Amino acid sequence: MCGIIGIASFKDISKEILASLKKLEYRGYDSAGISTINNGEIVENKCAGKVSDLEKLIKKTSLSGNIGIGHVRWATHGAPNQINAHPHSSDEVSVVHNGIIENSSIIKKELVEKGHVFKSQTDTEVITHLITENLKKMNYLDSVFETLKKLEGSFALGIIFKKFNNLIVGARRGSPLAVGYADKEKYLGSDSYALNSMTKEVSYLDDGDICVLTKDKIDFFDKNKKKIEKKVHKLTQEKESYSKGNFKDFMSKEISEQPEVIKKCINEYLDKIRKEINIVNFPIDPKKISKVNLIACGTAYHACIVGKYWFEEFTNIDVNVDVASEFRYRNNKIKENELYIFVSQSGETADTIAALEFCKKEGAKTCAIVNVTESSLSRLSDLVLPIHVGAEIGVASTKAFTGQILVLLLFILKIAKIRNEIKADEYSNIIKDLENVHSHVTLILNNKKSIEELAEDFINIKGSMFLGRGLSYPIALEGALKFKELTYLHAEGYPAGEMKHGPLALVENGMPVIVIAPKDRFYDKTISNMQEVIARGGKILLISDHAEEITTSENVWSEIRLPQIHKFLSPFLSTIPLQLLAYYVALKKGNDIDKPRNLAKSVTVE
Ligand code: F6R
Repeated sequence: MCGIIGIASFKDISKEILASLKKLEYRGYDSAGISTINNGEIVENKCAGKVSDLEKLIKKTSLSGNIGIGHVRWATHGAPNQINAHPHSSDEVSVVHNGIIENSSIIKKELVEKGHVFKSQTDTEVITHLITENLKKMNYLDSVFETLKKLEGSFALGIIFKKFNNLIVGARRGSPLAVGYADKEKYLGSDSYALNSMTKEVSYLDDGDICVLTKDKIDFFDKNKKKIEKKVHKLTQEKESYSKGNFKDFMSKEISEQPEVIKKCINEYLDKIRKEINIVNFPIDPKKISKVNLIACGTAYHACIVGKYWFEEFTNIDVNVDVASEFRYRNNKIKENELYIFVSQSGETADTIAALEFCKKEGAKTCAIVNVTESSLSRLSDLVLPIHVGAEIGVASTKAFTGQILVLLLFILKIAKIRNEIKADEYSNIIKDLENVHSHVTLILNNKKSIEELAEDFINIKGSMFLGRGLSYPIALEGALKFKELTYLHAEGYPAGEMKHGPLALVENGMPVIVIAPKDRFYDKTISNMQEVIARGGKILLISDHAEEITTSENVWSEIRLPQIHKFLSPFLSTIPLQLLAYYVALKKGNDIDKPRNLAKSVTVE
């Protein structure tokens, strides 16, 4: 959700800033901009559109400078146009911002009364004017501290100054910010991914921290202006995850990586000789856990619902699942021996982090299931379980979902084993079958041509429904989410048993209804619900691993037959055709696959 880059160097940095902005485009892609200090002046270039548009603009202006900041925007205040694009500059200062300033209209009113003239509709511009005002009476660092005191809301900031032209100031409250180190060059970035190609050594700012970068060093201050030290972390993620290779887009690459990702993740957690799951250091002794709360947003929330079904299947623990944006504002009561599990690909989702912070404040024990292990969520949690899927760049989450449910399952099985709530043979059977999941996923991927052909029939539909029961219910939700975010076509995910309580009214002749019905204990019931849809003219795409023919199969429009698998492992397989379906429909409609409209990868505003 918006991306920030800043570079303080001994050499010209405009090309490096542009290259980093391209990598950051997954966070926001409705406008982009860059400011440098050039011959003692702030030079600002920005435009609506993508970084490639900014690049064209900059070619015409021959931008140079050793100190610079850049930004890609995901609009919150003000339309995505050139004026609202960041940076926002005055004669004295230029600012890039991620987050939301909640009291911007009050501050703006005060500044307008003092004679400041605003150009944009953004909340960010108040920061530029506040610093400019403060600079009249104080030095650059004090002017930033004073400005931050007035701001309510969340921010990560990158600031450069005309008069203090060898430095960049960064500040963090709520929105993540990292710095990176290289010889005679220092970096500021909204995430370590932006810095990864330039350095492997990074530090993370905590809430309230401010940093000052020059080409030679980085100084850190806490919110009381006290100088502080920061730990330097080594970045670990492999470089090849950041390239599309021979794939058309990141999403198709990430879908196709799933067999490897599953194998790798199982390798990380499973002792293959003892057939034992290696998870230790539980924040609460598993035998004492009285309740588990799973909290996340979007796709990760759907993974949590899958987790709830598994928890209930394998343990006697009470389970609650929450969308983070709801959880954080409910009147929650944290009790002893309740475990709070947060699931997130990025580890930077504002609502999920706020929910975690609330739990920590109330003394809860927490665990994070994350992809980006250097993220805020990881750093705040008592136990971190990485999903080991490599960088996920496509905005629509695919391999991360698979990794999230895999780690959830391993975690749940381990807890069930320690609590003696799962039979030894069931535990070992599931583990044995889990080790084969990757080969089943490969079979489904090998059959993607047939899903590509099916996709043709979805291009002009009015709307669709995705139905499932039990473990297939969250998969239906996830299938519908993937479908709507990529294809821009309406899709509803529903528990199949709920259809007759309302949504059946939507079904009309020819409406596509995707039914996920693996051969588990819900199979017959789901097929009955399917018949009710067929009777109203629904056009069924059945996703199932059933072996026998369905008696009324002539009414099923099309089928995707899945390989047979342990009844509790069906989510790993049924998810894949739904990802492919959304992908191919979007591709045929000519939509931007990796950057669907109005969305961003990392949702760092609430
Ligand atoms: C959908 C999608 C989003 C994310 C959600 C949470 O394809 O990617 O719904 O799952 O924004 O993001 P993370 O997992 O980074 O917390």
